[in-house]
Amino acid sequence: MYNFSKRPRRLRTTPAIRDLVRETHVRMSDFIAPVFFEDGAGIKSEIPSMPGYFRYSPDTLMDEIQELWNLGIRSVLLFAKVKDELKDNEGTEALNTNGLMQRVIRMVKDKFPEIYLMTDIALDPFSSFGHDGIVKDQKIVNDATVEVLAQMALSHARAGADCVAPSDMMDGRIAVIRNTLEEARFHDVAILAYSAKYASCFYGPFRDALDSAPGFGDKKTYQMDPANAIESLKESALDIEEGADMVMVKPAGAYLDIIYRVKQISEVPVVAYQVSGEYAMIKAAAEKGWVNNDQAIMESVIAIKRAGADLIASYFIKEIARILHTEKA
Ligand code: PBG
Repeated sequence: MYNFSKRPRRLRTTPAIRDLVRETHVRMSDFIAPVFFEDGAGIKSEIPSMPGYFRYSPDTLMDEIQELWNLGIRSVLLFAKVKDELKDNEGTEALNTNGLMQRVIRMVKDKFPEIYLMTDIALDPFSSFGHDGIVKDQKIVNDATVEVLAQMALSHARAGADCVAPSDMMDGRIAVIRNTLEEARFHDVAILAYSAKYASCFYGPFRDALDSAPGFGDKKTYQMDPANAIESLKESALDIEEGADMVMVKPAGAYLDIIYRVKQISEVPVVAYQVSGEYAMIKAAAEKGWVNNDQAIMESVIAIKRAGADLIASYFIKEIARILHTEKA
């Protein structure tokens, strides 16, 4: 009989040895919690395409953030749903000092001074066209949009944001936002750049959550072609050069190779965004009993970390907290 000297299965024989040799771990401080809110009071409304995920009013959002904080979550990423009548092509409401976003930033910082507060920078929730930039002759104009984004970032910094996260994919916006923040002496306000953001169908449920689907066309003239990998290196390198403190790959699950490649060249932390459609797919399959909810969640986030992500933005955050907690018990 053949004498096996190498048997990889030896290190898989018991839970103890499997734990000892596990290469990848997730912990609560790996995660950023995206949160959705709208104006009003007493609201906790479930997003139909994101079962188990909710949009809050400012008051109920504070309770939710308290719960997240108690679970060990140290960072939130804010997304505002804006009333239709406040939307226009230039995203004017995005700069309103007393706008919903600015008010919520102040409330969160007031109640949770220690939380790391990130905000989304893009025009789509504020745009009558549902596009991330200003529309002219059916085109999304780059440079004029960048000016508005920089002012938007400044207004979030003034309200108390620790980090602004431009998700718009306009060229040159990181440089202009950085300059604007520096000139206003917001030296410590960081930029998380959505650097490799793909034109993905997996954002569908998010657009339901914020009522921000594009009114015409698609986002392919600014978001990346899912078929391209090398371009993600160019985008990330540019954003780092322009002053990004962290870069992001988005979506995550279908782009693990991109996470891996960006991590190889990045001198800053790499964030992966497990987006709304990734959440919806697991939830839908789990509801049907076709995959195990908890196992699918953990396998998906472990894979994202294994690929090289330093941080993960995920809608599963509370479920992950529950799962990690019961594992320990
Ligand atoms: C908007 C924005 C989107 C997401 C984050 N910021 C949607 C889009 O680009 O259309 C997607 C998040 C998700 O799907 O979970 N700039």
